[in-house]
Amino acid sequence: TAEEQMYRPNFHFTPKKGWMNDPNGLFYLNGTYHLFFQHTPFQSVPDFSKMHWGHAVSKDLIKWEELTPAIAYDEKGAIFSGSAVVDKDNTSGFGDGTNVPVVAIFTYHNMQKEKAGEIDAQSQAIAYSLDNGKTWTKYSNNPVLKNPGIKDFRDPKVFWDAKRKQWVMGLAAQDRQHFYGSKNLKDWVFLSEFGKDVGGHGGVWECPDLFPIKIEGTEEEKWVLIVNINPGGPNGGSAAQYFVGDFDGKTFKMDALFTQQLQKEKVAWLDLGRDNYASVSFDNVPDNKRIIIGWMSNWDYASQVPTNQWRGTTTIARELKLIKNQEHYSLISAPVHQLENYTSKSVKKKEITANEKVTLAENNEIDLTKVVVELSLKDLESETYTFVLSNKEGELLTFGINNAEHYLFIDRSKSGKNNFSDKFYQPLTKAILDKNQKEAVFKIILDKTSLEIFFNNGEKVMTDIFFNSSPFTQLDLLSEEKINVQNLEINQININ
Ligand code: FRU
Repeated sequence: TAEEQMYRPNFHFTPKKGWMNDPNGLFYLNGTYHLFFQHTPFQSVPDFSKMHWGHAVSKDLIKWEELTPAIAYDEKGAIFSGSAVVDKDNTSGFGDGTNVPVVAIFTYHNMQKEKAGEIDAQSQAIAYSLDNGKTWTKYSNNPVLKNPGIKDFRDPKVFWDAKRKQWVMGLAAQDRQHFYGSKNLKDWVFLSEFGKDVGGHGGVWECPDLFPIKIEGTEEEKWVLIVNINPGGPNGGSAAQYFVGDFDGKTFKMDALFTQQLQKEKVAWLDLGRDNYASVSFDNVPDNKRIIIGWMSNWDYASQVPTNQWRGTTTIARELKLIKNQEHYSLISAPVHQLENYTSKSVKKKEITANEKVTLAENNEIDLTKVVVELSLKDLESETYTFVLSNKEGELLTFGINNAEHYLFIDRSKSGKNNFSDKFYQPLTKAILDKNQKEAVFKIILDKTSLEIFFNNGEKVMTDIFFNSSPFTQLDLLSEEKINVQNLEINQININ
């Protein structure tokens, strides 16, 4: 229907039909990025007994092409979340001497067992591909890791630990993280656990990701552990937290400074919006880049959003960097640079000063349903700076900074349809800032029904979706006092 198309993003990936949740098995090989995802192809609400891995490919992380589902459920269970690795040395023995095997590691979720109240409904299994991820063969001896008696035991994320010459699997085990090691991806031994007493515990731990990353501007390597959690997010529902530490091939240990940081902040969030879940990173990306993609929704209302024929969108692909500033770690994210290759039209302005209100863009200049807005503000003296997106229906999506009480916010309560779920409706999504800001730099991605805010170079990130009944056609900036825009650049994104 027209409504369906109206909500479908212009340049974020969505399945043509059916349900989508977590990104799975992200990897890069021979010039192609692969995105698999939790998928129920035949209906747009999840069927947890018939979950598939859907599949899409891209040359540049921006323009995606959907392929037929890659891995389907079978009598052992539904195919829940997991990862994929490029097994260059054929440690698994799945290679045929010509083609590099790609090995997917996923969770089997057995609904019959779950319904019968058996605790071991979830176990880990593998499948391999010898044609660059197109077709997959399940290993005959699955599962490769049996359930040890933990109900929530899932979402294996595997990486090659080059120093120790081993595969390491991070696994979500209810309220903590388990690590396993393997030489061949088939036989796994328990290494350690982490996290029972630290970080966010408002819900079950899911979709972990452990990886090494250099502190920006140094040669010092740290390890970051992302752990998704549902519920218990900073603004309700599902969200992603992270830890900074070291990994010695066996144990992940939090960094001393990061430990102090957490004592104050309790949880470090990757994204403080409501709609970025199950964020995990790609395997085998060139130049050691750490690229993540998340599911742009929230378990609080994901299956009720009013798109009907399809449900679920991914976030823009983001590159992660670890910053250590004034004795504080931040895992910052920014949209991948490839997005810039699709700029078709721009509006650029410098040194705008205004009292109380300035119109930044209107639809006759640029199509606000597909833009990246970059804006820097200086001499912040007013209490709030509020961006307002509006349409002819009078619907409003507002977001910005409250500098008196130190937070960023998104208010989608008047942005269009919001009565499909009580949990979707809430006045503010908030991200606390640690201090008064003198300047503020925003990078904002707008794609019809989503808003991704990268504040101060990605130090704080917020992602929210919304369902306006006609496109937003105007963007204004409001404040109580003077507005000093140093730089404004709006780039329209066109992807065909
Ligand atoms: C996270 C999650 C995973 C699970 C999958 C099922 O959103 O609950 O833990 O593997 O979704 O679709």
